[in-house]
Amino acid sequence: MNVLGTKLLNLIITTALATKKCRNFAFETNKQKSGMNIKDIQNVLNDIKHLEAHDEKEIENLRIKYLSRKGEISKLMSEFRNVEADKKREYGIKLNELKKAATDKINALRNSISTSKDVNADIDLTRTASPVKLGTRHPLSLVKNQIINIFGRMGFVLADGPEVEDDWHVFSSMNFPADHPARDMQDTFFVENPNILLRTHTSSVQSRVMEVSKPPIRVICPGRVYRNEAISARAHCFFHQVEGLYVDEKVSFADLKQVLLTFSREMFGPDTKIRLRPSYFPFTEPSAEMDINCDICGGKGCSFCKHTGWVEILGCGMVDPAVLDANGIDSSKYTGYAFGMGIERIANLKYKVDDLRLFSENDVRFLEEFSSAY
Ligand code: DAH
Repeated sequence: MNVLGTKLLNLIITTALATKKCRNFAFETNKQKSGMNIKDIQNVLNDIKHLEAHDEKEIENLRIKYLSRKGEISKLMSEFRNVEADKKREYGIKLNELKKAATDKINALRNSISTSKDVNADIDLTRTASPVKLGTRHPLSLVKNQIINIFGRMGFVLADGPEVEDDWHVFSSMNFPADHPARDMQDTFFVENPNILLRTHTSSVQSRVMEVSKPPIRVICPGRVYRNEAISARAHCFFHQVEGLYVDEKVSFADLKQVLLTFSREMFGPDTKIRLRPSYFPFTEPSAEMDINCDICGGKGCSFCKHTGWVEILGCGMVDPAVLDANGIDSSKYTGYAFGMGIERIANLKYKVDDLRLFSENDVRFLEEFSSAY
C-alpha cells in the first residue's frame, strides 16, 4: 500500500472512530440530558403498586419518599424538560400516570388504616356492658306460678281448656240447672248462639279432663275467665282462676281440707289459719267457701276483712256424683274434691293491692314494683 493509500485508510478509520465516538457521545449526552427512561418510570410505578404501611407514620414516610418536592416523582418530573421533543408525549403520559398512581395509593393506605383504626376504637374490651333493661313478671303470673308450684309438689299436674267454650262444658256437664242465673245474658258473654260463650269459670276444664281421662285424676287448671260485670276496683269483665280437681277411690273431705291448709300455709306463711264455711255450688256437694285469717289487721278486724278477721279466698267441695256421671266417671266407684280460686284475689292479699284494675292497665310503674318478687 502506498503512502496515499495508508493515509486514506487512516482517515477512514479515524472518521469511523470519530463517528462512533460521536454517536456514543451523542447517546451519553442524550441519557445525561433526560436523566431517565421509560423503564425508570415503570419501575417506580411497579414499586408503588406494592407499597404497604401499618400506621400513619409509615404512610407519611412513603408520601415523602414519592410525592414530596424532593421525592422520587418530583425528580423524574424535573428530568422531563430534558426529554427529547418526540418522546415528550409518551413520557408526559407515563409521568402523569405515575403521579396519579402514587397519590391514589397513599390515599388508599390512609383509608384502610383509618377504617381499621375506627373498628378497633369502637371495641373497648374493658368497658362494662350496657345494661339490658329486663322486663318483670306480671304479678298475676308470679302468683299463678307459685300456685302451680305448690300444688305441683303435692302431685297435681297442669291441664288446660279453651276460653271460648260451649254450654255443655261450662254449665250442663257441671250440673247447672237450665234456669241458673249464670246462664243469663246479663251475666255471661255469649259469642254466637246461646251454645257458645266465653267461659265464666275454669270449672269447665274439670269436665274436659274427666271426659278424656280415667281416675286417678289430679289436675290444676289456671286460666282466664269472663263475666259480664261493670268494671270497678272490686270487679272486672275478665279475671283469672285456678281450678283444682282430684278424683280417685275413697277421696274424702278431710283430704280436701288438708290439701287446702297446706296450700294456704305455703302461700301465706306457716302460721296461716283456714276456715271452711258451708256454701252452695251446683257442681259440688257438700260445698264450702274457705277463708284465711286476715293478714292486714292480724285478725283484729279491718275494712279489708269487713271487720270479721277473715278473708275469703276460694270455693271448694266434694264433686257432685251427678258431675262425675255426666263426664263419664262411675260415681259408685269414685269420689273427688274440687276447688277454685281467683288469682287476682290471692295477689290482692299477698301484695296488698286493693284495686283490681291495676292488674290490667299495664302501668309500668305498678308492674316494676314486682321486679324483686321472684
Ligand atoms: N267455679 C266457681 C266460681 O267461679 C269456683 C269454684 C267453687 C270452683 C267450688 C270449684 C268448686 O271447683 O268446687 O265461682
